[in-house]
Amino acid sequence: MTLDFTYQASAARIVFGNGASGDVGKWVEALDCRRALVLSTPHQAADAEALSKRLGPLSVGIFTTDGQGCFRYKTVRPGGYAVPSDGPVGQMLGGLGFAMRRPAHLHFLIKAAGFETISTHVYDGSDPHLGQDALFGVKDELIGEFKPTGKGDASTLDFTFTMVRAKKGRGTP
Ligand SMILES: [Fe+2]
Repeated sequence: MTLDFTYQASAARIVFGNGASGDVGKWVEALDCRRALVLSTPHQAADAEALSKRLGPLSVGIFTTDGQGCFRYKTVRPGGYAVPSDGPVGQMLGGLGFAMRRPAHLHFLIKAAGFETISTHVYDGSDPHLGQDALFGVKDELIGEFKPTGKGDASTLDFTFTMVRAKKGRGTP
């Protein structure tokens, strides 16, 4: 039996050119995004600030790493969620008895000039469904510990990403 399906990956858009940053707002809207987050290293902070101002209300804000390459932000604590099971892959996995859910996690996409890009998740080590990820993405080195701060329901997660130098001809420009 042949199952028909369509898979659409998340698309990346790279626009390169003199003055191209002036069109970032146009691209944000063309992609049907409501807002964009500007990421920066300390030595590009002025450029990031200028871009954020140029974006105006389209800019969520700016993340700039500190001198050690660290950044901090606040967000809601992630929860696990069910994944669609109505497609052929969902039917196959469900038929094999796999749970059609993902344990709690945060997504990260980290880029730095001269380094390989990191696209990964960090999973909440306290999620009881950690061993049942429908996408088989949980690895020991990607499990983090959300530590209560003692202030309300706030928690902190400290996690270190290790970047490797890009191979010649690769890496984020
Ligand atoms: Fe997710």
